[in-house]
Amino acid sequence: MKQIILDISKVFSFIPEKQIFDRAKAAESANLELENGTGKGNDFLGWLHLPSSTTDAALNEIQNTADKLRAECDVIVVIGIGGSYLGAKAVIDALSSPFDNPEKKPLIVYAGHQIGEDYLYELSEFLNGKSFGIINISKSGTTTEPALAFRLLRMQLEKAVGIAKAQKRIIAITDKARGALRTLATQEGYKTYIIPDDVGGRYSVLTPVGLLPIAVAGIDIRQLISGAVEMEKTTGADVPFTENQAAIYAATRNELYKQGKKIEILANFCPKLHYVAEWWKQLFGESEGKENKGIFNAAVDFTTDLHSMGQWIQEGERNIFETVLSVAHPRYIVEVPKDGADLDGLNYLAGKRVDYINKMAELGTQQAHVAGGVPNIKIEIPELSEFYLGQLLYFFERACGISGYLLGVNPFDQPGVEAYKKNMFALLKKPGF
Ligand code: PA5
Repeated sequence: MKQIILDISKVFSFIPEKQIFDRAKAAESANLELENGTGKGNDFLGWLHLPSSTTDAALNEIQNTADKLRAECDVIVVIGIGGSYLGAKAVIDALSSPFDNPEKKPLIVYAGHQIGEDYLYELSEFLNGKSFGIINISKSGTTTEPALAFRLLRMQLEKAVGIAKAQKRIIAITDKARGALRTLATQEGYKTYIIPDDVGGRYSVLTPVGLLPIAVAGIDIRQLISGAVEMEKTTGADVPFTENQAAIYAATRNELYKQGKKIEILANFCPKLHYVAEWWKQLFGESEGKENKGIFNAAVDFTTDLHSMGQWIQEGERNIFETVLSVAHPRYIVEVPKDGADLDGLNYLAGKRVDYINKMAELGTQQAHVAGGVPNIKIEIPELSEFYLGQLLYFFERACGISGYLLGVNPFDQPGVEAYKKNMFALLKKPGF
């Protein structure tokens, strides 16, 4: 079985290999703490064995709901913010064409991930006259951004098709008992899915939070889960450090951090992975950035950003390292055609695949950045498929848990996100604030 491959060899000129492998014991015990539930935040470990404990029956049930929505709706609005939408968007964008969307049924659009008034107006205009449905996702059921979007869109849907029909086109994914969304869903009789108590938002992509929107987009959720199951096995606490890619990644970034590399830039050479990087930023940023510690997570799309942030990465302050996402084999073949006149001077590439050029850009960038003082970690994904994305998501989740414990923080809470909310509620004069 092929796997995503982690390559840390381009770190060794900055940190001796031995120094990283000397962290084996620490990383293994961090992984064991996850497994045994003896570490910080141990009431949020439901994601750890989620892939292997997801039953066929559960997947079939989600698929049935997805099929019904697909049959009935031209557009599905996925409402959610942070962990309640990033995972689904990451997988859907990675496995869809950016150009077939206007004809694709259903089209997936997002709301509740910000508070843009113009966005909500334009979305509402776009939905006018279309048959649309809503997947509303909020674990707490009280988050302002999705609640606001849901109020507007629910009313628009009810007005358009009547309350009874609207109730059938709305799915709520939330806590089993708590929160305003649960109350509303019970009152209105919406179909609901439960976000398990012990799975935090940023670790929830493999629950219905991610799986339902992904299935609605026509993506194979069984394959996604089987990829994750595979990675669950090969990153388990029983797998020794030298064979455990999640533990090696965690230890490597932790050692780099200790050497003053305070910023990790996730660079992808496949534009479809832009939202995987957004999901990754949330996963690691929210998990580790606390107690005045933690790597700052940034992301760039290459080669696009080589023409902007490339300058900073090459010659700016040397407090960064790079983790590159590279897809070994694209799905399609595009070759550079020969042109008799060769006025653009590209005939030297005639007959070469576009991906070959991209790979040379990747190699050239790696050489330049390493020479410029940027340690480089590479994660190679064999191809963009459900299976390998499932592997990748679980790989990062596991690595993040291990990494958080190596850093000495609780990787499963996010006390810091409350600060802005308290101020905002006070300013908005929310009762009780
Ligand atoms: O990871 C997290 O817990 C957060 O990013 C949440 O997912 C985000 O704040 C949304 O919260 P909720 O699902 O409760 O609306």
